[in-house]
Amino acid sequence: MTGRLTIVGIGPGSPELLTLLAAAELAAATDLVGYGPYLDRVPERDGQRRHPSNNREELDRAREALDLAVQGRKVAVVSSGDPGVFAMASAVFESIATGSPSWKGVDVSIVPGVSAMLAAAARIGAPLGHDFCVISLSDNLKPWNVVLNRLEAAAEADFVIVLYNPASLARPWQLGEALVLIGRHREKSTPVIFAHSVAQTDERIDFTTLGDADPATADMRTLVIVGSSATKMVEQSGGKSFIYTPRRVEVAAS
Ligand SMILES: C[S@@+](CC[C@H](N)C(=O)[O-])C[C@H]1O[C@@H](n2cnc3c(N)ncnc32)[C@H](O)[C@@H]1O
Repeated sequence: MTGRLTIVGIGPGSPELLTLLAAAELAAATDLVGYGPYLDRVPERDGQRRHPSNNREELDRAREALDLAVQGRKVAVVSSGDPGVFAMASAVFESIATGSPSWKGVDVSIVPGVSAMLAAAARIGAPLGHDFCVISLSDNLKPWNVVLNRLEAAAEADFVIVLYNPASLARPWQLGEALVLIGRHREKSTPVIFAHSVAQTDERIDFTTLGDADPATADMRTLVIVGSSATKMVEQSGGKSFIYTPRRVEVAAS
């Protein structure tokens, strides 16, 4: 009697950025499994069971969801943004790969969501209009040296760089070190965006530059976008400004 497990991306915050498919899957589930604050964003339904957990228990949460599915429940694992971007989808597949053989029979599907970087980019223009890379600054699940090596390679290759998990109370210094490293490869005038709580009621977007960026303004609800050498600001009449990265790369004639 194996049920279903759907890993649902609920977007960055506001209900308008929840897809129709995500809403339908959340409504159809008998059980919702997820980090407590994400479950709080899902409207209550009669008869539906909720299984909240804290932020540090991804694999435990995945195993609990798989066990419920094996019992015949229709389970939705709720993930912020997109479930495949630094989120629950990997934890579910890692559990299936390494855990109980019964989990291999569970019917699993994934519903994509609007990742925070896409919502942030849309607020400020088109910073991701050309090649970019996305790096998590969290060293909870990988050594800091690996982060530094990846940052170095990305900075040297002139990618626009999106930084997820830039800071938390337990990780206050990593963003400062990352910005210093990137600054060895980029002009001080390179645009930098701090996007806080995008698509939530306390959203704040700060435009700054690599020379002026203050890492202390980031927390665990912030993502940071560092422009490439081609990223520019354009001002419109009325004082509104946008950041964009052109689609074309200009190569100097030799
Ligand atoms: C574990 S990752 C989850 C990412 C998520 N799966 C996504 O696709 O957006 C958590 C990090 O995502 C970023 N993040 C998530 N939601 C955000 C939001 N609404 N505004 C700004 N950053 C956000 C922050 O960097 C945060 O520390």
